Amino acid sequence: MTATRITKLTADLLGSEVGIEGWVRTARHSKAVSFLDVVDGSNLAGIQVVAQRELDEYDDVVRKLQTGCAVRVHGELVVSQGKGQGYEIQARTVELVGGVGEDYPLQKKRHGFEFLRTIAHLRPRTNTLAAVLRVRHEAAAAIHDFFADEGFLWLHSPIITGADAEGAGEMFRVTALDLEDPPRAEGRIDWSRDFFGREAHLTVSGQLEAEIAALALSRVYTFGPTFRAENSNTARHLAEFWMVEPEVAFLELDGLVDLSERFLKSVLGRLLDRCAEDMAFFDQRIDKGAIERLEHVVASPFERITYTEAVAILEKSGRDFEFPVAWGADLQSEHERYITEEVVKRPVVVTDYPAEIKAFYMYGNDDGKTVRAMDVLVPRIGEIVGGSQREHRLDVLGPRMDALGLDRDEYWWYLDLRRHGSVPHAGFGLGFERLLLFATGMANIRDVIPFPRVPGSAEF
Ligand code: 4AD
Ligand code: MG
Repeated sequence: MTATRITKLTADLLGSEVGIEGWVRTARHSKAVSFLDVVDGSNLAGIQVVAQRELDEYDDVVRKLQTGCAVRVHGELVVSQGKGQGYEIQARTVELVGGVGEDYPLQKKRHGFEFLRTIAHLRPRTNTLAAVLRVRHEAAAAIHDFFADEGFLWLHSPIITGADAEGAGEMFRVTALDLEDPPRAEGRIDWSRDFFGREAHLTVSGQLEAEIAALALSRVYTFGPTFRAENSNTARHLAEFWMVEPEVAFLELDGLVDLSERFLKSVLGRLLDRCAEDMAFFDQRIDKGAIERLEHVVASPFERITYTEAVAILEKSGRDFEFPVAWGADLQSEHERYITEEVVKRPVVVTDYPAEIKAFYMYGNDDGKTVRAMDVLVPRIGEIVGGSQREHRLDVLGPRMDALGLDRDEYWWYLDLRRHGSVPHAGFGLGFERLLLFATGMANIRDVIPFPRVPGSAEF
């Protein structure tokens, strides 16, 4: 008989013979009976298996089972005697598929997240990481569904790229050259003899490719890994993170802000609906009030302020911030959090930032000083989304790139799009792990991605 996922053990199977495969989370053995709490990752609860000593394999197999053992169990699905649990399995056969060594590190006690990162090959077996991975999966599915409903196409943007999409120079190089002895021309490394016949990097953003597609297909989004070689050792930065980047033709800044609000509410609302068990776990064990916070976000309108208004709020605050506040300086996470947590108490969209602190591709406002940028700030995290209306006017974009020292030849195709059928367009990037931090209440971004890549660490 084939195994059934534990989540599929529903009322219609009561009284029938079922089979499950999974891992023992806890085992309690008494004289006459053993209680095995078995999980297979499909949900948090798992299922209780009751194995009586009458079973042939009781002494040789069942009594020896402990946390971490892989088992296959067959038996009758019955209504549980114990309180608080729906169904259990009265075992007919219990098979040990894989035992555990004496040094199995996961025991019943709670382990620190920092320690668990050192055993990232085993941490999905903990309640917390398994719940994170289920919520992560549901969030990804919710994102695809949201965009499908709104008529967007998923664009697969490249991971290896020749362009610095942010113009910030925080890229990892991709090369097949022998770095001990690279080919040289005039004393410098000759990248024209590298694999791609040019310098290549891991992408920091799929935006520029998304713009190409949006100017043909109208509404697209990317969803994939992005890489940044920025040396930020914080609880909110990863060197490899996933980004969702919608890009829409014939859209300007206001419409983009609306889109970001609809999008975040839709995805978070779906997590409340479909991940109720895991969200209750986060609410009780990780971050008291997590559910209420999400409900509040889903229900209330996002506040909209300009960067200039944000600076005025901060200057009036009387707070002694670590980073000084002044028009023209970028908002730091302490500033963002003050505004969204203490002043507005819900998500805030800040727009129209100074051109100097934003990327080259943002649409310039008539004031000559600000660009049509937007950042969505949420409590506990600060910036979760960053985006803008794009500069679609060739006669503005070219000089702006020159002023920033970007080589027009490197971006020739990006500029070419402004010569043929150029239209106003806009898009944003959501940091997928930041969304998960916000949704789950987990404290460190390294614990919402299965295998974190951060400065000094790329194990597993
Ligand atoms: O604000 P960013 O740098 O914007 C872009 O990359 C644009 N190309 C997006 C666009 O307009 N299509 O990054 C977007 C978001 C941030 O708001 C943040 O949530 C997340 O990506 N992010 C990171 N998440 C984890 N680790 C990092 N190092 C991150 N850097 C940015
Ligand atoms: Mg940003």
